Amino acid sequence: MALLPILSFPDPRLRTKARPVTVFDAALRQLANDMFETMYAAPGIGLAASQVDQHIQLIVMDLTEDKNQPQVFINPVVTPLTEDCVPYEEGCLSVPEVFDKVDRPSRVRIDALDLDGTPFSLEADGLLAVCIQHEMDHLDGKLFVDYLSPLKKQRIREKMQKRERQLSRQKPAATENTRRSASSP
Ligand code: NI
Repeated sequence: MALLPILSFPDPRLRTKARPVTVFDAALRQLANDMFETMYAAPGIGLAASQVDQHIQLIVMDLTEDKNQPQVFINPVVTPLTEDCVPYEEGCLSVPEVFDKVDRPSRVRIDALDLDGTPFSLEADGLLAVCIQHEMDHLDGKLFVDYLSPLKKQRIREKMQKRERQLSRQKPAATENTRRSASSP
């Protein structure tokens, strides 16, 4: 198991369209396990492979508070079952600390494959419907901030770039401190 680095907006790699999974092997299972570990550690409730720079149609999710119902969706197809859209305040591990309302169809059908390549379908509403549509967007190179006004999106971009600069300033400082304390008697 390993924690994977999560790409953050506006990283252009998040715009890559994911290709379908064709091989269901140990490497795919390992990637799914690593994605679960990364998602739980973040913490988050859903993660698309695109967010960890693996551009295949793989989504992991766990909507429970106890983190005991891991769900995997491979090559998913999502079909709205209603024209009714409901707003939900969404967040994203690739856009940390930003939350905003997005309207999406409230009920959908999901057709997908599991890690063995076995097809399954289910009807979803509530949080599952929101989350699967959010993750599907990732596979398509889309982010929830794309639904917001250009002004809001620009503010978020600036916030993310500032955050990135702060993080990169902190990193060398931390290394310096570690080195200094390691060499001190
Ligand atoms: Ni997301």
